[in-house]
Amino acid sequence: MSALKNVCISKLDKKQLKNEPDSQYISQLSNAFMAFTKGAENMQQMYEKLQERVDYLTGELEKKDKELEEANRLASLGELAAGVAHEIRNPLCGIELSASLLQRQLNSFAKDKDKAELTANIIEGVRRLDNIVVNLLTFTREKKIVYSVFDPEQLLDEAIAAIEVKIVKNKVTINKKKDCAICVLNADKEQIRQVFINLILNAVEAMPDKGNLEISLSKKNDRLLVISFQDTGYGITQDVLGKIFNPFFTTKDHGTGLGLSISYRIIENHKGKLSVKSVRGKGTTFSVSLPVNIG
Ligand SMILES: Nc1ncnc2c1ncn2[C@@H]1O[C@H](COP(=O)(O)OP(=O)(O)O)[C@@H](O)[C@H]1O
Ligand SMILES: [Mg+2]
Repeated sequence: MSALKNVCISKLDKKQLKNEPDSQYISQLSNAFMAFTKGAENMQQMYEKLQERVDYLTGELEKKDKELEEANRLASLGELAAGVAHEIRNPLCGIELSASLLQRQLNSFAKDKDKAELTANIIEGVRRLDNIVVNLLTFTREKKIVYSVFDPEQLLDEAIAAIEVKIVKNKVTINKKKDCAICVLNADKEQIRQVFINLILNAVEAMPDKGNLEISLSKKNDRLLVISFQDTGYGITQDVLGKIFNPFFTTKDHGTGLGLSISYRIIENHKGKLSVKSVRGKGTTFSVSLPVNIG
């Protein structure tokens, strides 16, 4: 731009020498030229800014395209998982029912105690598979919250019963405490059940050779219900602690690494919080805090 300016000024100078035009004319021309130069510079700046904006928007568009592709991929994976999960859960349910009936019969005869134990293993395996399928299903499909009012203590009992075999096997004792006369929640019962099962299962797995799990329910300013799960297990190191809520992160040989990431998402969707405190070698406490949502 300044090169062009120099050429024009030198042309003007020559013209002034030859024809001796009046200085006003030259000054007007020079002003017009300056204005033109300024305008051109402004336009250049605007063009550069526009180019930057276009580059940014193109990048954003490409990012959104990738996100959409990923969402579509997850959606079809979700459809597939839902179909497979349904097909798997039905026979699992049948196996569990038959094994439970068999276990009840075997338990009534002292001589069949070892057989009853074997059936307990079948039941444990089936429930573990069912939990994995449910976690996978939740991971691939965003489920709407279906609110209902329920007693969280009763739901805890149901969750404990679902993994009873494992609790007995690992010799874990569970104590419950509550400091609210009536503890009720308005939340998605099935999703909260899944959170309870995941947290209790993790606690029990962290105590492979006996331990204690204390589950306490307490109310905070009438609006929040805090349910904490305090175990005396092996605890979590500081570097692992930062990763446990990531999907597929596991330190177990046969873990899926989905339990905590799903539980975190469920609690977050309920506008609650899932937090953790742990001391290596001493134990871990997971706390779920949920809005009571009643009245
Ligand atoms: N109560 C606990 N005590 C010790 N470690 C735990 C506990 N709960 C979770 N963890 C750690 O967090 C990891 C992720 O847990 P999770 O998402 O449930 O997946 P998974 O149980 O399949 O490994 C576990 O592998 C374990 O290292
Ligand atoms: Mg787990």
